[in-house]
Amino acid sequence: MSLPARVKVVEVGPRDGLQNEPQPVPVSVKIELIERLADAGLTVIEAGSFVSPKWVPQMADTAQVLAGIRRRPGVSYPVLVPNLKGLEAALTAGAQEVAVFAAATESFSRKNTNCTIEEGLARFREVTAAARASGLRVRGYVSCVLGCPYEGEVAPSAAARVAAALYRMGCYEVSLGDTIGVGTPGKMKALIETVAREIPVEHLAVHCHDTYGQALANCYAALELGVAAIDAAVAGLGGCPYAKGATGNVATEDVVYLLKGLGIETGVDLDRLIDAGEFICRFLGRPSNSKAARALLAKRTP
Ligand code: HMG
Ligand code: MG
Repeated sequence: MSLPARVKVVEVGPRDGLQNEPQPVPVSVKIELIERLADAGLTVIEAGSFVSPKWVPQMADTAQVLAGIRRRPGVSYPVLVPNLKGLEAALTAGAQEVAVFAAATESFSRKNTNCTIEEGLARFREVTAAARASGLRVRGYVSCVLGCPYEGEVAPSAAARVAAALYRMGCYEVSLGDTIGVGTPGKMKALIETVAREIPVEHLAVHCHDTYGQALANCYAALELGVAAIDAAVAGLGGCPYAKGATGNVATEDVVYLLKGLGIETGVDLDRLIDAGEFICRFLGRPSNSKAARALLAKRTP
C-alpha cells in the first residue's frame, strides 16, 4: 500500500502532556497553548479530561479551559471521559467531542480506571450511546497495545478485541496507544494487520510514546499500512500517571517534519507549531523533547 496523501495530526499535548506535569499549569497557560496550536493549523486538539480530580488533579480545570478557548470552525476539541459523570460535565462545558479510554490488559485497566476491561467497556457503551444521542462524536483509545507496565508483552489479538469493541459501540476512530513506548515497527505492523481485520484502517489512529526512541519509526510503520491519523504532543510533552517511567508522546513537530519530508499534507505550519512548543517549554522551564524543534530553532538564531 502507498503512503496516505494526507494525514490528520491529533494534538494531545494539552491533555496527555499536561495531565502528567507535577507543577500546576494555570488555565490561562493551557488556553494560550491551545490557541497557539490552533493558530498552527491543527484541527484536532485534545483540550483536557473530565475524570476524577482525585485521580488526575491536573485536569480538574478542564471546564474553565473549554470556557476560555475561542472555538474555531473546523477545529475539534475532544475531552476524555471515563463514565457518565464525566460525560455530563463535558456536555455542561459545551464539549462537542469526547474520548473514552480502555486498555488491552486487565492490570492497566484497573490501575487507570479502577475496573476490569469488561466493566470499562460496559461503561463506555453507556457513555458512547448517551454522547451520540446528544450529538457528540466519540473517539476510542486502547492503551498498552504493544506492552504493559504490569503484564509485559501484549498479544495483537488482545488489543484488537478491545479496539473492535470500541468501534462497534460507535467510536468513529480508535487510537492504538503504545502507552509505554516499548513497541518496534515490526510489532506495530503485526498489530495493525490484526486490528485492520476488525476495523477499516481509515478508522484507526496510532498514539506512540517515545520512551524507547521508537515512536517515529512506529508511526512510519503505521503509515505504510495506510493509517492516516497520528496522535502527537507538542514538544513531546507527557507520560502517563499510571505507567511509571513512560516518557512523552511522539513530538508533534517531529511528526509534522517527517510528514512534510514525505510530501504528505497535514495543514500544519511547522514554524508556528514550534512557537507553540517554545511557549509551553518556557513556561515549564525545560527544553523541548522535539529534535526537529531544537534543530530548527538553532537555525533561527543568527
Ligand atoms: P473510582 O474511584 O472507582 O470512581 O474511579 P467512583 O465512581 O467510585 O468515584 C470516586 C470519586 O470520584 C467520587 O467522588 C466521584 O464522584 C468522583 P467522592 O464521592 O469520593 O467525592 N468521580 C468523578 N469526578 C469527576 N469526574 C468524573 C468522576 N467520576 C467519579 N468523571 C474513575 C474511577 C474512572 C473515575 C477514575 O479511575 C478516573 O478518573 N480515572 C481516570 C484516569 C486518567 O485520567 N488517566 C489518564 C488518561 S488515560 C491515558 O493517559 C492513556 C492515553 O493517553 C492512551 C495511551 O497513551 O495509551 C489515552
Ligand atoms: Mg498517551
